[in-house]
Amino acid sequence: MVIASATRDPEAGETLSCTFASRYVRDPVPKFKMPVRSIPKDAAYQIIKDELMLDGAPRLNLASFVTTWMEPECDKLIMDSLNKNYVDMDEYPVTTELQNRCVNMIAHLYHAPIEDDEGAVGVGTVGSSEAIMLAGLAFKRKWQTKRKAEGKPYDNPNIVTGANVQVCWEKFARYFEVELKEVKLSEGYYVMDPVKAVEMVDENTICVAAILGSTLTGEFEDVQLLNELLTKKNKESGWDTPIHVDAASGGFIAPFLYPDLEWDFRVPLVKSINVSGHKYGLVYPGVGWVVWRSKEDLPEDLVFHINYLGSDQPTFTLNFSKGSSQIIAQYYQFIRLGFEGYQNIMRNCVENAKILKEGIEKTGRFNIVSKDVGVPLVAFSLKDSSEHTVFEISDHLRRFGWIVPAYTMPADAQHIVVLRVVIREDFSRSLAERLVSDIEKVVNLLDTLPSTVHASTTSAHVTAVTNETGDKVVKKSAMETQAEIARYWRGLVKDKRTGVC
Ligand SMILES: Cc1ncc(COP(=O)(O)O)c(C=O)c1O
Repeated sequence: MVIASATRDPEAGETLSCTFASRYVRDPVPKFKMPVRSIPKDAAYQIIKDELMLDGAPRLNLASFVTTWMEPECDKLIMDSLNKNYVDMDEYPVTTELQNRCVNMIAHLYHAPIEDDEGAVGVGTVGSSEAIMLAGLAFKRKWQTKRKAEGKPYDNPNIVTGANVQVCWEKFARYFEVELKEVKLSEGYYVMDPVKAVEMVDENTICVAAILGSTLTGEFEDVQLLNELLTKKNKESGWDTPIHVDAASGGFIAPFLYPDLEWDFRVPLVKSINVSGHKYGLVYPGVGWVVWRSKEDLPEDLVFHINYLGSDQPTFTLNFSKGSSQIIAQYYQFIRLGFEGYQNIMRNCVENAKILKEGIEKTGRFNIVSKDVGVPLVAFSLKDSSEHTVFEISDHLRRFGWIVPAYTMPADAQHIVVLRVVIREDFSRSLAERLVSDIEKVVNLLDTLPSTVHASTTSAHVTAVTNETGDKVVKKSAMETQAEIARYWRGLVKDKRTGVC
């Protein structure tokens, strides 16, 4: 065949080497146009492998909640199923069955009121973002249907959240034309205040979204208090505003570490929950889940039924085709680890977070912003950022191989700037100790370097005051200085898309 001969190695038998591969890149590899000529498979492999060496090391990427290590047995299952399109349910009924088992296991973990002879209502997605789009659409459709039936306007829906929501909520709002009403944060309080949230609810609110494990600090929002306040408001107003819980990270933490904490379907107004399988569900990226309390909470007219693949198949996803590997990998983790295994891993993560937190506190240079109860992460800010900032610490840590993001908090706490280390299963105690030692080295190094803050804040909002000798000097409050520094660094990093996820 012509194509096969074109891709055959013209120097068959030559062993793979960088020199061999480099022969095929005498001209730079075109970035924007497909190359005209084929190259041998070994050369293509080597060229790409070499270029990828310049990526960061995933296991040192402490910016991400997403799984970077799995057991080799599961890697094998993933490789074995790479060529299976999940949507071909009739051809791969066992894979479909494994997804349904996962949905049921998650729904039971979250105390969904399911009868013995009933299946849970939910679906596997590419991640929490897709799961949130689907949950949001279900709320929007339910609200619109009700408003239409009542003869009321249905063109101005909104969702109430904290300003700390992950970007996927902003995407949902923009893509699906729902106003996002955000409860502002304040210094020292970095999650949605349920009292303020319920005050913002009106007749157009399709749901209030609470986060179980804020992306920024790992803190759990108070779903029970939200339920209490919202129930009262619903009673007074005659509305029936429901709650969605975005448990992207906390959904595989809370059931194992805080089983008595009521945040899930035990709370009456909670109608749907999303969780990322690829975060503390311990599967490589992309798998997420959304589960509904009951069939009534997922409008039937959002579910498509197709039969051209052999039988009636209900589908409610944004994508049609996708891989099967991640679903199979999730099922592997569930049966391999069981409740006991997940609990041990989460306990270990919390222990390592504690060691890291104590080490960071011992340096005497940082305030800890994260809480002990929540997603195992350590978020911390500099006690004194008048000379250097956390952005510089983040940059310097990269030289040791660590990827530790620095970011400003959302409104109205944007003058607070933090570093965040996410503790995953593969982040060991020795790595925690090593990181503390490297943070100390960086802080000591910065002490010897000229201040970048003074150089960068010349345009600060300042007050001129007169000193004892009669000269005009500049006086800024600590808050103004912090805000100025945050603005400056935001300007520098605004185009970077590698922040927190
Ligand atoms: C609270 C929260 N919600 C949603 C998401 C989006 O999740 P995914 O990356 O699985 O789409 C994240 C990601 O970090 C998150 O922290």
